[in-house]
Amino acid sequence: MTLNTIGKPHWRVDGIDKVTGQARFADDLRAPGMLYGRVLIARRPHARIVSIDTSRALALPGVHAVLTADDLPCARVFGVIIKNVPVLADGRVRLWGDGVAMVAAETPEVAERALERIDVTYEDLPGVFDPEEAMEPGAPLIHEDSETGDSNVFVHHKVRNGDVEAGFEEAEVVLERTYRTQHIDHAYLEPESVMAETTEDGGIRVTGCIQNIFSTRRSLAAVLGLDLAWVTVKHATMGGSFGGKDEVMTQMACRAALLARACGRPVKMTNTRESSMAESYKRHPYVLHYRLGARRDGSLTAMDIRLIADGGAFASMSPFVTWRSTVQATGPYHCSNVKTDVYAVYTNNCYTGAMRGFGSPQVNFAVESLMDELAEEVGLDPLELRLRNGFERGSVTATGQILDHEVSLKEVLTRSVEQAGWAEKRRAFTEDNKKADGPRRRGIGLACSYRGVALGAEGVDAVGAIVSVQTDGSIIVSAGLTDMGQGLQSALSLIAAEVLGVDLKRMRFFNVHTGRVPDSGPTVASRSTTMGGQAAKKAAEAVRDVLFEVAAKALGVPAESLEAAGGMISAPGAGKSMTFDEAVDEAFSQGRPLLGFGWHKGLPTSWDEEEGRGDAYFTYVYGTNVAEVEVDTETGKIDVVRVTAAHEVGRAISPAMVRSQIYGGVAMGMGYGALERYTIEQGVPKSLNFEEYLVPTAMDVPPIEPIIVENPDPAGPFGAKSIGEPTAELMAPALCNAIFHATGRRIDRLPADLETVLLGRPLEKGGTRSAREMKETCRPGDFEAEKACPAGGGAEEETS
Ligand code: MOS
Repeated sequence: MTLNTIGKPHWRVDGIDKVTGQARFADDLRAPGMLYGRVLIARRPHARIVSIDTSRALALPGVHAVLTADDLPCARVFGVIIKNVPVLADGRVRLWGDGVAMVAAETPEVAERALERIDVTYEDLPGVFDPEEAMEPGAPLIHEDSETGDSNVFVHHKVRNGDVEAGFEEAEVVLERTYRTQHIDHAYLEPESVMAETTEDGGIRVTGCIQNIFSTRRSLAAVLGLDLAWVTVKHATMGGSFGGKDEVMTQMACRAALLARACGRPVKMTNTRESSMAESYKRHPYVLHYRLGARRDGSLTAMDIRLIADGGAFASMSPFVTWRSTVQATGPYHCSNVKTDVYAVYTNNCYTGAMRGFGSPQVNFAVESLMDELAEEVGLDPLELRLRNGFERGSVTATGQILDHEVSLKEVLTRSVEQAGWAEKRRAFTEDNKKADGPRRRGIGLACSYRGVALGAEGVDAVGAIVSVQTDGSIIVSAGLTDMGQGLQSALSLIAAEVLGVDLKRMRFFNVHTGRVPDSGPTVASRSTTMGGQAAKKAAEAVRDVLFEVAAKALGVPAESLEAAGGMISAPGAGKSMTFDEAVDEAFSQGRPLLGFGWHKGLPTSWDEEEGRGDAYFTYVYGTNVAEVEVDTETGKIDVVRVTAAHEVGRAISPAMVRSQIYGGVAMGMGYGALERYTIEQGVPKSLNFEEYLVPTAMDVPPIEPIIVENPDPAGPFGAKSIGEPTAELMAPALCNAIFHATGRRIDRLPADLETVLLGRPLEKGGTRSAREMKETCRPGDFEAEKACPAGGGAEEETS
């Protein structure tokens, strides 16, 4: 296949507006008479709301409305499966950041002062903050009224494959390990912001940095009591999201819309960094118990996996996030006997939801650490162990899926280790570390993964796109998907440009708008290029068909003989051609439409929730990170020296954007692995800004060497698959494996901060340590939990 545009250097269709400062982000929006909305949060993790008195706030000049849950006319909660995220806390506070009342005022300052004059009486309730404790009988219940009955466990996914006990009988080595991951914040550059306006026909229009405009619209309609057609959600240019601007934006959109309606004036709400960190959901902390059986040659005989995800106060995306973990919990390895149980549990911590990786980063950290531990135990090189057990074409996963696509696992492994100089460094560092007399040690570690592309059996997967050629030959491309900065607008435009044989400079891509494009589901799961790209390709092909028909007649050649490239439509065999613009003129003069609509539905998937089996995703991508570190064994400080990241993407529509994803993903994965922790003690967050919550800076990011592996997959447009999330979910285990190589200490909880590196679990030969023994090992995090006060404990009345 000759490609003229795809795979070549290009500009970004959204680039000029961004670099010249003309792009309008949500907080740039202004409207005549606009008011400012603010929310009062509870600042206590679990309480009954006894009373709310808003009279002093309403009396403040400049205040136009003060609303509580009692003012909500229709639905008061929303959610995708389990609807329990409240627009405002309704009689009960379930997390520290729960909103209890809101204000619209003429200035942000007046709105802030009004919040101080809202008098709320609470009766504190005992809370539960540890997901394993929350599972115990008798734990305080977070949602008594839910389908979960008298339990905080609201999700239980499983996989059953083969006979696990027989697998352990066969095993010559058994490892039992527990790993833990932390809450982390999305830390997008742009905090949440929306503007809501009522429309003349009684509808509502909301513009904002909203990742998933169609689910937000559904919730707005339910909360306002409107039909979907009367609710418009528009997308403003977005400064990052990473899965984060979903429910928190729906909540903000509903709040702003209610205020706008109450005041009859536009209302804008924008979070500060502190209010963003207080109110937004985080990545799920997991407790990951693995019991692994293997033979002395390293081949796996059994895996017994039990994962517990802290869902926090609301269900949010937990059912889906944990499902991806369930499918991918074994890593990309053959194992005939697998039993996996994955739970999501309510606690009074901040709620948790989608974040770049969506249930993969946690399981990849655990299973890739575990594979290194097994390699050490059986005396194999970690690479060798992975090559021995890794998936190949035709492999059968633990869910019973036959991988009948090109399985590139061994290719990404081989290419990254060659580039990183794995074998030589592994040997040299081991030798040097033995001889070292100072505190510095060097290490090299790797991690690999397989990842399901798009939603898979998680939901209906279909996307629509529109390509509309104007009379002057300029082209509007649109799709029901959101560009959050990842480059979707350029990727889809490149695909349309390739089909039409024109330059990308003709393309204009409008921000997504519920009134202009069909509901295409959420922009998540690294599905945009695969799914949206197929839709854009079909839309462009529909336009091209019309142009070819017109050109065939004009040139006197069969339409099948035509090609579109370089702004020309030509019949190379006949030596005849016309320009794209001439064909456009001709089409319009004949009254032919040049608006193409493309709709793409993903290939079939299946899932049996009872048996925990099925073809979970229609295809997969494969990746490897190799990390080289230096560790100061006196201070625990680590320096990441170099990272090699190989990702199989099917086809790189834009190699430059694929590399950008790799750079950003590795940096983000490094934050997860070494720096970031949203500290929350007894439900009270302790890191509400970037002086306490550490993200990697340009000074921390090492040289990153990206390797793009292309094995075109028929599932995607021109063979393209995913890249956004896969890049962010391998660095943490690669880094921790490198630290182990350097120090012999195993990082079994994230992040690998100074204390954790110093106090990491020393290597133990002989394998089997029970989870209980490991829990009893003294770790820095345990100290914190002991220091903190026990939960609330009773009916203590307080006024704020
Ligand atoms: Mo994403 S974490 O699938 O929004």
